[in-house]
Amino acid sequence: MSGMRVDAPIRLEAAMSAMMEAIDRQFDQLLTLPEDQRARLYEAMRHASIGGGKRLRPLLVKASCDLFNVGWDSAIRAGLAVECIHVYSLIHDDLPAMDNDDMRRGKPTVHKAYDEATAILAGDCLHDLAYAILVDERTHADPFARIELVKALALASGPAGMAGGQMMDLAAETMSFDLPMVTRMQQLKTGALIAFCVEAGAILARVPEENRVGLRDYAHDLGLAFQIADDLLDVEGDAAVTGKAVGKDAAAGKATFVSLMGVEQARAQAEMLVSQAKDHLHGFGDEAELLRDIADFAIRRSH
Ligand code: IPE
Ligand code: IPE
Ligand code: MG
Ligand code: MG
Ligand code: MG
Repeated sequence: MSGMRVDAPIRLEAAMSAMMEAIDRQFDQLLTLPEDQRARLYEAMRHASIGGGKRLRPLLVKASCDLFNVGWDSAIRAGLAVECIHVYSLIHDDLPAMDNDDMRRGKPTVHKAYDEATAILAGDCLHDLAYAILVDERTHADPFARIELVKALALASGPAGMAGGQMMDLAAETMSFDLPMVTRMQQLKTGALIAFCVEAGAILARVPEENRVGLRDYAHDLGLAFQIADDLLDVEGDAAVTGKAVGKDAAAGKATFVSLMGVEQARAQAEMLVSQAKDHLHGFGDEAELLRDIADFAIRRSH
């Protein structure tokens, strides 16, 4: 076991770059330019979705599919759907009305490279494409599995998930937030979509809900650790490496784990959460190695 963990960074790097290539190819096929006025909309979607990002969410879907021997085609389509939602959320997150950012994934944000109206529509369309991908028969032969995926992704993305968390995040700039409130905000904003990814393998394998407890606990801890790492990168990261501006949270006066706990305690908390996340996988063997590697990476990352 210990020998295997030593190799983990190399193994994860290989899995990640394979996923980056696969997702780029999927977006390239999905977003063929039409020969009319919509070309600009497609170009904006391509700008945001191709050639950047860690693709951590699709990789989590693949890792959860590994647990239950779900095939690559199902895994990649569910991963593509969640990446569509994620990219849409980033396009809208960067808009002047939200975080007002100029750089994302080392490139100008969509509203900078194009314009605000195009950025809004590009986000809307990626949101719609996510569900079109999930309901397609190629994602899973069983319509019940497809419906469950759609329901889970909708819940994770909407007011009880990512978008609701984004609303709380805006409030965190002007209201005073305590630790339980920040935890709740991060669970919704980032954790819900990550939890969908971890559950996707179980949904595709038709694993009954009562057998998903360990996975859900893993996802809960991973989601929080991942967002603490994002908040730490905003304080300590290098914009040339993260591909996005740093120092934005403090400048906006935003309550985060780091603003409430300080850098040292936030890092200790993230490390504790990652080790707890891996403990929740005790019921699994080697088939969960990718999930364990991703948990370690979530806080080791520099981008
Ligand atoms: C950034 O997500 C936004 C958060 C939800 C914290 P990622 O760190 O996964 O960004 P990309 O996809 O790699 O660009
Ligand atoms: C955004 O959180 C989370 C989303 C749902 C998009 P942040 O605003 O902290 O993400 P970054 O730092 O801009 O990537
Ligand atoms: Mg934001
Ligand atoms: Mg932001
Ligand atoms: Mg951030």
